[in-house]
Amino acid sequence: MKIITTLLITSVVFIVGALGLAYSGMVDVSASSPHSGFINWFLSTTSHASIERRAKSVVVPDLSGKSLAQAGVNDFEAMCSGCHGAPGKNPEAMGQGLNPAAPDLAEVAARNTPAELFWATKHGIRMTGMPAWGATHKDAEIWPVVAFMMKLPTLDAESYQAFLDDAKGKGHHDSDDGHNDHVEADASSDDHHTDEQGDHEHGDHDDGDSHTDGENAVKEEPDHKDDGHDHEH
Ligand code: HEC
Repeated sequence: MKIITTLLITSVVFIVGALGLAYSGMVDVSASSPHSGFINWFLSTTSHASIERRAKSVVVPDLSGKSLAQAGVNDFEAMCSGCHGAPGKNPEAMGQGLNPAAPDLAEVAARNTPAELFWATKHGIRMTGMPAWGATHKDAEIWPVVAFMMKLPTLDAESYQAFLDDAKGKGHHDSDDGHNDHVEADASSDDHHTDEQGDHEHGDHDDGDSHTDGENAVKEEPDHKDDGHDHEH
C-alpha cells in the first residue's frame, strides 16, 4: 500500500511539474538555440528507428536505369535542394535556419535503403522542417526522386549540373509544364542564381521591415511571391 501511495504521489508531482514547465514559458523553443546533446541523440535515434521500422512494409519498384533518376532530378532541385542543398550548392536561407538542420542527402542516401528514403520523403518527419511530400504527391512522383537520391553519393557539382541539363523537360517540376509555379527553383532558374545573388546579400532581413515583423510580413506577402526567385542561391 505504501509503495502504491509513493508511486501515486510521485506521478502527481511529475505531472504537475511537467504542466508547470509547459505553462511557465521557461522552455526555449527557438530554432536558433540547439538541442542539448542528449535530446539530440534521443530525437535522431527515435526518428531513425521509426523510419527503419516503417520502411519495412514499403514495396520498392525497379529503380535501376538512368531515366527514372532523370525524371527525379528536376523535382529534387525544385522541392529538396532549398533545404538540403545539392552537390556544389548550399541550402537556401530557409534551409540554413532549420533546427534540426536538413542533412546532406548524399550522405543520407549512402547509408539508407531506397525504402527508407521513400518513407521519409513521403511521410515527412514530425516536429522538424521535413514536410510530408505524400500530402501533395503520388507515390509514382516520389519514386523518381528516390531513384535520383540513390545517385547523389556519386555526383559532384559538375555532374549534378550535367544531370540537370540532360533532364530538361522531365519530371513534374520541369521548366515547361506550368507546374513549377508552386515551388521556386527549377533547372531553368540558374540564371537568377548568378544574376541576382547580389540582391540577396543586402541584409534587408535585419532592418525589421520584412521577415521579422509579423504585421509587415503579411502586408508584404505579395512582394515575396513576386520576387521569390531573387532569393535563390
Ligand atoms: C523545408 C525544408 C525541407 C525540405 C523542402 C525538404 N526537407 Fe528533407 N528534411 C528536412 C529536415 C529538417 C530533415 C531532418 C529531420 C530530422 O532531423 O529528423 C529532413 C530529413 C530528410 C530525410 C531523412 C534523413 C535521415 O537522416 O534519415 C530525407 C530522406 C529527406 N529529408 C528527403 C527529402 C526530399 C527527397 C525532399 C524533396 C522532395 C526534402 N527532403 C525536402 C527539411 C526539408
